[in-house]
Parts: sequence; structure tokens; C-alpha cells
Amino acid sequence: MTNVAPQSKPQKTVTLTDNETGKTYQFPVLDGSVGPRVIDIRKLYAETGMFTFDPGFTSTAACESGLTYIDGDKGVLLHRGYSIKELALKSDFIEVCHLLLYGDLPDAQQRKDFQNNITHHTMVHEQMQFFFRGFRRDSHPMAVMVGVVGALSAFYHDSLDIDDPKQREIAAHRLIAKVPTIAAMVYKYSIGQPFMYPRNDLSFAENFLYMTFAVPCEPYKINPILARAMDRIFILHADHEQNASTSTVRLAGSSRANPFACVASGIASLWGPAHGGANEAVLQMLNQIGDKSRVPEFIKRSKDKNDSFRLMGFGHRVYKNYDPRAEIMRDTCYEVLNELGIKDPLLELAMELEKAALADEYFIEKKLYPNVDFYSGIILKAMGFPTNLFTVLFAVARTVGWISHWNEMIQEPTQKIGRPRQLYTGPVERPYVSLEKR
Ligand code: CMC
Repeated sequence: MTNVAPQSKPQKTVTLTDNETGKTYQFPVLDGSVGPRVIDIRKLYAETGMFTFDPGFTSTAACESGLTYIDGDKGVLLHRGYSIKELALKSDFIEVCHLLLYGDLPDAQQRKDFQNNITHHTMVHEQMQFFFRGFRRDSHPMAVMVGVVGALSAFYHDSLDIDDPKQREIAAHRLIAKVPTIAAMVYKYSIGQPFMYPRNDLSFAENFLYMTFAVPCEPYKINPILARAMDRIFILHADHEQNASTSTVRLAGSSRANPFACVASGIASLWGPAHGGANEAVLQMLNQIGDKSRVPEFIKRSKDKNDSFRLMGFGHRVYKNYDPRAEIMRDTCYEVLNELGIKDPLLELAMELEKAALADEYFIEKKLYPNVDFYSGIILKAMGFPTNLFTVLFAVARTVGWISHWNEMIQEPTQKIGRPRQLYTGPVERPYVSLEKR
């Protein structure tokens, strides 16, 4: 697997002046292939004795990467140079996985081989089913995902030599193939139905629908429109550069930890409502609002600094424009509801909420637009997925992004353990006070 990221070369410098000492320092400026320039401050501490302060990494590029490019102001998202819209409309998830992992779209033979590899890794070790029995049936599916995906690390010792590209490749294939199987098992366990073994004659999305919704006692007919929608949802969630969960996987992996365990750490990070948990939170919010007449009340609440309520599915750290994924998701939503003949009042409510927010001064000024999660919950609900499984589907799709980033990171010649510094604000050294004197 190759890393196609262009090597950044220092071309220009910026000068930093310390007003206290009058000293000036020069730092190289790096140019990526597109996007903002980056100040290389790797020698900052050595030369100035100072750190930078950037909680939430709002201005920090933590790595070089050739996978995904986002222009948040223009609403652009590219994977290896291809626009998300083209990929979602013309490609399929298996091709996008190949693109992210290997750097390019596969030719016919590569596609066949790759698909074959993924298909033949979909079964999990028979022993894994026994883990599920240790969980309560009403456990949150993401809690079970963190545990069972993490447990994969106990099964594949051969992927521990992370310096061997072949072993890294097999680990990537295993993760892309087995996480959907585990996700479907999580669902089956929660409703008390038997686990369905994967089927090698089906596509990635079809197989996932089959493992989730089929039962052994009758044939399961796959609806091609729903399979296409599922595939598109996977494409739209496949990668999103250095988001919280991907950065978590990179940081965990930077200590050279087992990749299966690293991906489990990404799942934990994804769970939060500010990240992947937002799709679940959107549906809960729409149910809470309940009726179009209450939209103004909730818009008002979302703007109130003394109220913790936020419009879920709105706003993004990087996009200050319509999230390009949200547009495709909205169209897919119409397609699915039409196909299923569902007239969901929640869709009407969502559209009313979107209209009201986009016309509101607060949302305009703060550039808060619908993100990918705003419409995804409505589609997933229509397809029959329970709300608490939404973030699990996000994890199924994002696994390829996580493992591609991990693989890219391991190959970097300058790769070292991630170790941020801090602005210490606690007490300075003081003498120990014995218990009787406290
Ligand atoms: N509703 C109301 N106000 C908001 C919202 C919202 N959804 N999002 C941001 N704001 C306000 C926020 O209060 C702040 O106002 P002020 O400047 O007056 O303090 C300003 O906009 C900037 O927000 P921020 O929290 O500093 O921005 P951030 O970049 O740290 O957070 C975010 C980004 C996605 C966490 C946030 O917009 C949010 O919580 N959105 C709702 C949750 C959501 O939909 N998350 C899914 C993100 S996309 C999928 C994914 O990445 O997993």
C-alpha cells in the first residue's frame, strides 16, 4: 500500500518576534498540493523555549496526509482528488475503499481481487459470538462495538508486525470486512435473533443488509434501491480527514499499538454526540420538537447561551458552508422514502427546521449549515434501523478511513509517538503537608 501524499518542501519562512526579549526567529512555511499554507513549528520549543496553545487543534496540522481534502468555506470534499459527489453518484463503496487504502480507483482486475479479498474476510472467528453473551441485550450498540472490535486484537497476532506492509494490508482487509459482520451481530443480539453468517455472493452493502435484516427461516429479498442507498451512506461516511475519531486512531497508533485496538479507540471517540453520535441525536431532537409549530421555540433555545440545547446535525468545525455530504444525503432521503412509500412527518419537520435555521441571523452569521448527519437518521429509520444503531453504521463506513490513515501514518519516515504539550496552570511546587496538619 502506497502513500501518495506529496512530500511537502519548505519554500518560504515566517518570522516570529518575541516582544519580551526582542529576539526574532524564522520558521519554514510548507505548501501542500492545495489548501492553506502550514508553518513548520517543529523546532519552536528547541529554539524559543515556548509551546503553542491550540486546544481543539483549530489551527494545527497534526500530520501530512494524501487521503482527503476539505475546503470548508467552499463546501468541497475530495478523496484522493475525486469529489465526494462524483464518488457517491458514480462509484461504489468497495471502489472508494480501494481508493482510500491504495491511493487510486481500481482497474477491473484490481477491483475483482480487492472485492474478493474483502468478501473472503467477512466471517469472524466462531469464538467471537460468545463475547456477546457477556453483554446485556439492552446495551448501547456502540458500547458493544468498542468491546468486540477491540477483541479482534486478541485474534490476529500475525498483524502485530506493523512494519510488514503485507501484514498491514491483511489487517486493513480484515477490519473493512469484519466490522460490518460484528455490527450486524450487535443488532441481532440486541433483538434476540440468530446471527446471520455473511454471504459471499452479495455486494458489501447487500451483505450488510442481509446480515442485519434476514432471518434463517425465510428467504430475504434485497431491495436494490435500499442497497444503493446503504452503499451511498457508506461512501459519504468513509473518511473525513483529521476528525476526532481519526485523530484518535492516529494517536493510539503512534505508540505502535495493535491496529484492531486502535480502531476500537476510534469507535469510542466516534460515539460522542458532537461527532458520530449526532445522527442518533438528530432523530431524538426531531422527536423532541415533535411538531413544526415548535420549530421557532427550539431555534430560540439553540441560540440561548444559558441553554445547553444545540441544533443537532447543524454546524461543523471545518465546513462554513453546506456540507456537500448533506446535499447528497437529502436527495437519497427522498429516494428512499419514495421507494418505501413512506411519508415521514419527521422529514417535513427536518425541512422546516433547516429552512428556519438557514434564514436565521444567528445561523447565518456563525455559518452554521446542515451537516452529513442531519438527514441520515431519517433515511436509516425508514430503512428499519433502530436509532441507537445509527452511529454503528457510521463506524462500519469510517473503518476504511481509520485504517487508511493508520497505514499512511505508519509509513511516514518521520513518524513518532504523538505527545502534545500543555500550558500548565496548576500549583507550583510546594512542601508535602502531613495529614494531621491539613
Ligand atoms: N446549534 C447552535 N449553535 C451552534 C451549533 C449548533 N448546532 N453549532 C455551533 N454553534 C455555535 C456555538 O454555540 C458557538 O457560538 P459562540 O461563538 O457564540 O460561542 C459557535 O457556533 C461555534 O461553535 P463551536 O462549538 O465553537 O464550533 P466547533 O467547531 O467547536 O464545533 C460542532 C463543531 C460540530 C461540534 C458543533 O457545531 C456542534 O456541536 N454541532 C451539533 C452536533 C453535530 O451535528 N455534530 C456532527 C458533526 S458532522 C459529523 C461528524 O463529524 O461526526
